Parts: sequence; C-alpha cells; structure tokens
Amino acid sequence: MVDPFGRHITYLRVSVTDRCDFRCIYCMAETMTFLPRQDVLTLEEIDRLASAFIAKGVRKLRLTGGEPLVRRNIMWLFERLSRHLGGGLDELTLTTNGSQLALHAEALAACGVARINVSLDTLDPGKFRAITRKGDLAQVMGGIEAADRAGLKIKINTVALRDVNEEEIEELVRWAHGNGFELTLIETMPMGEIGADRTEQYLPLSLVRARLTQHFTLDDTAYRSGGPARYVTVRETGGRLGFITPMTHNFCESCNRVRVTCTGTLYMCLGQEDAADLRAPLRASTDDALLHAAIDSAIARKPKGHDFVIGRGERPSLARPMSMTGGLSPAETTHSRHLFRRPPITGCPLGRALLSNQLTPFLTHRCAHSGLNGTLAAVFHVDFDVAEKVLVLGGIGGAERAHRLGRLCRAKQDQPDRARARGARRREPPESPDAERA
Ligand SMILES: C[S@@+](CC[C@H](N)C(=O)[O-])C[C@H]1O[C@@H](n2cnc3c(N)ncnc32)[C@H](O)[C@@H]1O
Ligand code: SF4
Repeated sequence: MVDPFGRHITYLRVSVTDRCDFRCIYCMAETMTFLPRQDVLTLEEIDRLASAFIAKGVRKLRLTGGEPLVRRNIMWLFERLSRHLGGGLDELTLTTNGSQLALHAEALAACGVARINVSLDTLDPGKFRAITRKGDLAQVMGGIEAADRAGLKIKINTVALRDVNEEEIEELVRWAHGNGFELTLIETMPMGEIGADRTEQYLPLSLVRARLTQHFTLDDTAYRSGGPARYVTVRETGGRLGFITPMTHNFCESCNRVRVTCTGTLYMCLGQEDAADLRAPLRASTDDALLHAAIDSAIARKPKGHDFVIGRGERPSLARPMSMTGGLSPAETTHSRHLFRRPPITGCPLGRALLSNQLTPFLTHRCAHSGLNGTLAAVFHVDFDVAEKVLVLGGIGGAERAHRLGRLCRAKQDQPDRARARGARRREPPESPDAERA
C-alpha cells in the first residue's frame, strides 16, 4: 500500500475493544458507557480485516483498546494472527494496562509476540488505585513479572501528571531501567493551549526532563522507533528513555501507519477527520473483494499530515477552529473533567454533550456544547493514539457539525438509561469467541 505521497503503509493498529477494567482519570469517565456489542467487530472480523491489511503490505500489527486483554477469547485472535508472522508480518504486539498479563504472558510469547507496551504511571499502590480508579498495582506488577519471565521485551509507558506522579519519575526511571525495561514518558493534554484554567495536572515534559537532569545525564540519541517519541540514553542506568510530547506530531513525512477502531472505522491520519467504514464491506460479503477495495480507496485518500502540527514554527491549529467559532470557551472532555476542573457551563441550551469512542478510533473523546445564544458553536476533539501515546488535541469548529452535536446530545440524554442498559447487557449470553469480560 502506497499513499498519494509515496509513503508505504506498513503499520496497523487495531483497537479490539472500547472496554476496559480500569477507568484511568485521564482517559475515561468513571461511569463510562461502552458501545453496543453488535457495533463492535467480532474476533473473526478483526482477523479478516487485519489479514487483509497484511496481504496488502502491513508488516507490524499492534492490538490495543480499551484494554485488549479484557476481550474474551482475545488469545484466539493472537493465535490466528500469529500465522502471518514470518509470512508477511514482522511484528505482532499489543499495548496493555497489564492487569491480565499474568494470565496471558506465556500464551502471548507462544504466539510469537516479542515485545509489549505496558502502561504504568506510578509505583505507589494507593496512587495507582487513585489514577486507575479500579486497578490493583500488585496484579499489574505480577503481570509485568510474568511477561518478563515469558521473555517478552517490555516498554513501560507513563503519563506524567502534575501533583500525581511528578515526584516519582526519577524512581520510575530507575525501576524500569533496573529491570531492563524501556520507559517512555508522555505528556497529557496540553489544555493550556485552549484554556489555562484547566491545566492543573498538565505537566510539561520539558520540565520533567530538566528535573531529571539533576539526577541523570541524558544523552540524546538518534534512535527512532518510527513514531513520535524522541529518545535519550540515561548514562547512569544505561537504559533508554523516550519522551512523547502531544501535538509535536512532526513526523508526518514518514508516517507509515493507519488505525482501525473496534467498530471497523479506518483512520488514515490521527489528526484528520477523514475515515472509512470497513465494517460494512466486511459484513456485506464473505469474499474480501469489497474490503480490499474499501482499503485501497481509503489509502488513496491518506492526507499529507495533520492540520495542527506544531513544532514547525506553526501555531497549533486549535486556534483556527476557536476563531472560526467566535472564540467560545473550550469544551471539556469526559476524561479531562476530572483532570482539568472547570465550573459547569451554564445557560447552554443543548447542555453539555459527551461522547466517547463512538465516532473516532481508540479512546477518542468528544465534547460539544452550544453557545449561550443557542448557536451550535464548537466541537472539540481530543484524540490520542493509544499505542504510541500521542495525544492530539484538535478543534473542529462550527455549526456544520450540527448533526454530530445532535447525536452527542442524544447520547448524553440517554445516559440515565445506562444502568438499565448495563443490566440488559449482563443478561446477554456470551457469544464465543466474542463476549467480553469488562
Ligand atoms: C488508551 S490506553 C489503551 C491500552 C491499554 N488499556 C493501556 O492502558 O495501555 C493506551 C495508552 O494511552 C494512554 N493515555 C490514555 N489517555 C491519555 C491521555 N489523556 N493523555 C496521554 N496518554 C493517555 C494510556 O496511558 C495508555 O498508555
Ligand atoms: S488508559 Fe488504558 S487502562 Fe486506563 S482507562 Fe484508558 S484504556 Fe483503560
């Protein structure tokens, strides 16, 4: 697959579920509404879809989520996909919160998974529970140990959070490197770009890096993982440390990746809205011809890059939709509600509308609210690449998004029915191999 700019598309990330057994404060609302099961691709469909991409030249495949390992029978999918290793596919991997790793580490290794990313923001059990709301640090540590024993190469991903784990970064570096793990730090949302009042827990990695230099010698390295991280070697530990700064997504020229959501929506660019529905062609026929055609036509539309790239002397494009929409105050995302506290918006005729994981891939949250005069004013879009932990904050302005706002608002209004919906879901008989645990 070669896109219009001559880039070979060799890296596919697939979100296998929107569900998760944690509710990390920067990621999900505590009362998260998940997608109806019928909207989510079955494991067989994901296998067909990924296999089609591999047939077309994808060499690296990452499964992510939500939490990929909470999807029931997920190992069936790993086993199925492992047939491609050595026959077109170079790497099969995943990003996980580690909670189920102890159960699956050996099976993953047996399937040919060689490296995994594990997300871990703290080594303190109490803080871990506070950040994840549901997680048990000992369980995750057990998972990491099991993965290590199984011979999986581990990269730890840590979101740097002001007042939460900022004092712990040095310890995390020593711990990760002491155990032979790579560590990558990621900045959470740079909300200061749009609203300084909500930046309480935004911790710039420039600050983290400066602090680390009081303890370590950080040697720049030319090493690149093909993604947005910039790496240093920590002289004292000998380990590699990565920094991922949201919105500094300045590697579009060499972008080799596309992403598919658990509902089969293909996103050709993390920072663009254009997407292709692959679920319809998947379900329309057992033959893959329609699917291949849909993939080809989508790749032919892969854009050159983000609208809101920074780091090239440009300002984040977030300013553009703001001005397009009359400079209304920024919207608030589901997860940032906890992270970036802000007084409730009043006088908003549509109310605040929240939607997660329904329109965009991975853990994408959108929030919309109308202006005081009732004009549909702004939709803000927070989209992070779950695998690389790139977070891109973009804005989409204006009343032309009215239809989406309508959907968003309906989703919000439906929320009181959540408990009933949950009860209904619990009564659903599990469909093998596709029922989920979380
Ligand atoms: C969404 S999770 C999906 C895979 C798995 N559940 C996990 O936690 O590794 C992937 C990564 O995205 C990161 N992430 C989630 N929300 C984020 C945010 N608001 N800012 C930066 N990274 C975020 C998580 O820390 C995690 O490392
Ligand atoms: S970051 Fe991962 S583990 Fe945490 S809530 Fe999001 S999907 Fe779940």
